[in-house]
Amino acid sequence: MKYLFITLSLTLLAFVSCTSQQTKENIVQNNFNFAENQLAFAITEVERFLATDTTAARRMLVVPRSIENDGTFKMVASRDWTSGFFPGSLWYMYEYTGDKKWETEARRFTAPIEREKTNGTTHDMGFKIYCSFGNGFRLTNDQSYKDIMLESAYTLITRYNPNVRAIRSWDHNAHRWQYPVIIDNMMNLELLFWAFRETGDSTFYNIAVNHAETTMKNHFRPDFSTYHVVDFDRETGETVNRHTHQGYAHETMWARGQAWAIYGYTLTYRETKNPAFLQQAKNATKAFFSHPNLPEDLIPYWDFNAPDIPNEPRDASAAAITASALYEMSTYDTINGAQYKQWADTIIENLTHHYRAEEGTMFGFLLLHSTGHKPNGYEIDVPLVYADYYFLEALLRKQKIEKNEPLF
Ligand code: GLY
Repeated sequence: MKYLFITLSLTLLAFVSCTSQQTKENIVQNNFNFAENQLAFAITEVERFLATDTTAARRMLVVPRSIENDGTFKMVASRDWTSGFFPGSLWYMYEYTGDKKWETEARRFTAPIEREKTNGTTHDMGFKIYCSFGNGFRLTNDQSYKDIMLESAYTLITRYNPNVRAIRSWDHNAHRWQYPVIIDNMMNLELLFWAFRETGDSTFYNIAVNHAETTMKNHFRPDFSTYHVVDFDRETGETVNRHTHQGYAHETMWARGQAWAIYGYTLTYRETKNPAFLQQAKNATKAFFSHPNLPEDLIPYWDFNAPDIPNEPRDASAAAITASALYEMSTYDTINGAQYKQWADTIIENLTHHYRAEEGTMFGFLLLHSTGHKPNGYEIDVPLVYADYYFLEALLRKQKIEKNEPLF
């Protein structure tokens, strides 16, 4: 009798765990089924957009970014910082489905980004090249992609200043900042770490680590919330001022900046195995999740200290970036890992059930309710292509973790 009871209990346990595993897998599958239809729709919208105006200026607009204030489709040129995300989403679709159709589409939208490999006027090289060519190289081992990525990495390090020990972010607003470094720039280090692994040239590694250390020292407040822009004296490397550009005020916590910090230090730990970087990611995570203004659904307002909370727009992109980083962090931290995974799962569930676009609408974007640049009055409560990219990335990471597969 005792044995019968134990056998029945074990069978029930196996059934429950199998059912909950299926439920977890279904949310990934459900979202990729949805994304498959939406991305196919987005491609038809891009083709329609290009067909209605065949001028050279229009043909420069190669990938979707968002929706304009007047409701029209916002397409951008390769030089835009977001140009890598649409091809990157197509590569994630190929990774999930294994369907060659998606490889063909990913290659088609990756190709026009190549011209950025020599564009040294911006720090956004990682966003543009690593999300597009980087995913393509990882999935296909196409050696021509590798060459483009290496040239891009060499271009990116021309923006490094050894006095500051950081890569300069922006050249614009030169009257306000002489050597601005923004927290977002942590994301571009991934391309440099990759270039180090491919070439063995420690210049890439040292620049990336120096940049991460400089940012760790200067971009964080005592509570580990982040400043968006830190301006340095280019000769002495001294800090000149700490500002915001896309947040509400200099001393507030801009949600996406905090997400870039969490993700940026997680990837820097992945590449260096220096525990100080993981600790920084954990500290930044604590600032995000312990903030009293974080809503219950864990999708933050665009700035944690925006004045009209709860009547402020959300930023789903910050949530998607954070979820993707948390899945990775959960594999590094034996003490808090379960909590990180649970937060990431909650974000994914809420994005799926309450922030997704209706199929066949919104020019094929996946997620609603992101905020790009509220102080400048644009991209407020709209879809943003990078919210979709990190959402798909987070889903792939979730699936790998739940199948006990390595993330990298
Ligand atoms: N990297 C620019 C932004 O996060 O809006």
